[in-house]
Amino acid sequence: MPANTQTLLLLPGDGIGPEVTAEARRVAEMVAPDLQLEEALFGGVSYDAHGEPLTKEVMARAHEVDAILMGAVGGPKWDGVPRSKRPEAALLAMRKALDVYANLRPAFCFPALASSSALKQHLVEGLDILIVRELTSGVYFGEPKEITQLANGERRGVDTQSYTSGEIRRVAARAFELARGRKGKGQRFGGVLSCEKSNVMESGVLWREEVTKLHKEQYSDVQLDHMLADAAAMHLVKAPKDINVLLADNLFGDILSDEAAMLTGSIGMLPSAALGDPGVPGLYEPVHGSAPDIAGKGLANPCAAILSLEMVMRWSLGRPDAADRIFKAVNAALDAGARTADIGGKLSTRQMGDAILKQL
Ligand code: NAD
Ligand code: IPM
Ligand code: MN
Repeated sequence: MPANTQTLLLLPGDGIGPEVTAEARRVAEMVAPDLQLEEALFGGVSYDAHGEPLTKEVMARAHEVDAILMGAVGGPKWDGVPRSKRPEAALLAMRKALDVYANLRPAFCFPALASSSALKQHLVEGLDILIVRELTSGVYFGEPKEITQLANGERRGVDTQSYTSGEIRRVAARAFELARGRKGKGQRFGGVLSCEKSNVMESGVLWREEVTKLHKEQYSDVQLDHMLADAAAMHLVKAPKDINVLLADNLFGDILSDEAAMLTGSIGMLPSAALGDPGVPGLYEPVHGSAPDIAGKGLANPCAAILSLEMVMRWSLGRPDAADRIFKAVNAALDAGARTADIGGKLSTRQMGDAILKQL
C-alpha cells in the first residue's frame, strides 16, 4: 500500500444504517477509487455479535484511520439492554474517545426540494444554515448521571449539565472560524448566533460570557448575536434564512438540528461532521437515526449518508474537488426529479443511489 493511502472506516450500524451506507460506499468507490475502505460492526449489531456495542478493536482502528463514516445505531431490539451496552452509548463513547467536540450540521435546502419543506417555500428557498453543536460535554456526559431510589419510595432521575470555559471556547472558536469562511448573505444574524438558556441556567451564563469574551479577544470581525435557545427554536421556523452559523451546546444543538432538518425537506437529507483538533480523525454521520419503522424495506433516503461522505472529502481527506462532485451530483439528481418517499417520490434507496451515481 502506498505510504500516502487514506483510509475511511465505514460503520454501517443498525436499521437503515447499512442501507444508506452501502450507497455512500458506491459513491466513494466512484469518486475516490484510491481510497482504502474498511467496514466494521458497531452498535446493536456489534452487541449481538460480541456482547459489546463498541469493541476495543474497532475503537483502536477508529483512532488510526483518516475518517469514520457511520450509518446509524439503535433500535427497539436493544432498548432493554443496560444503558452502558446500548448502541447509543457506543456512539457517545466514540465521540468522547475521539474528542470530536465540534459537530457541523449544515441545513441546506436544495432548490428542487424547496416545496417539500413543512414550511412555506419562500421561507426556505436558498436556506443555508450551519449548526455547530458541542458534542463531547454538557448534559450528555455530566456526572452524576443516575436513577436513585428515595427513602419515600419514589425514584429520582438525575442528569448533570456541565461545561468548562475551555470546552465552550474551543467549540465557539470553530464556529467563528467557520463563519469567517462563509459568505454571509446580508442576514440579520450574519455571523454566529449563539444559543443557550442563560436566563435559567448557570452553564448558560458561562456559555454566553465565554463566547462574548472570545469574540472580543479574537473574532471581533465576525458578527456575534445571542439568543435564548427556546426563542431560537421559534426563529428557526419563523425566519430561518436570518441565520448563518448557529452555535449551541450538546442538547440544544441536538434538538435544534432535528428541527432544522425539517426545513430542508426531510431528516434524510441532513449530513454531519464531528471534528476535533487537527490530526484527529473526523466522525461523519447522517443526522437521522436507524429509522426502525422503515428499516429493511429499501425506503430510506441515502442523501444524508452520501452528503456525509461529501463532508468526509472536504473536512478530513482534503479532497474538495471530490466533495464538490458529490454535492453537484446530489443536486443534479434532485433537479432531475429523483426522490425517495420521504421527499415525495417513489424511488428505493438503491434507485436513489443509482440516480446520484449517474450524475457523477
Ligand atoms: P429516526 O431519525 O431514526 O427516525 C425519525 C423519523 O424519520 C422516522 O419516521 C424515520 O422513518 C424517518 N427517517 C429517518 N431517517 C430517514 C431516511 N434516511 N430516509 C427516510 N426517512 C427517514 O429517529 P428515531 O425514530 O427517534 O430513532 C430511532 C433509533 O435511532 C433510536 O434507537 C435512536 O436512539 C437512534 N438514533 C440514532 C442516531 C444515530 O445513530 N446518529 C441518531 C438519532 C437516533
Ligand atoms: C444524534 C442522535 C444521538 C444524539 C443519539 C442517538 C445518541 O440523536 O446524533 O443526533 O443525541 O446525539
Ligand atoms: Mn439527534
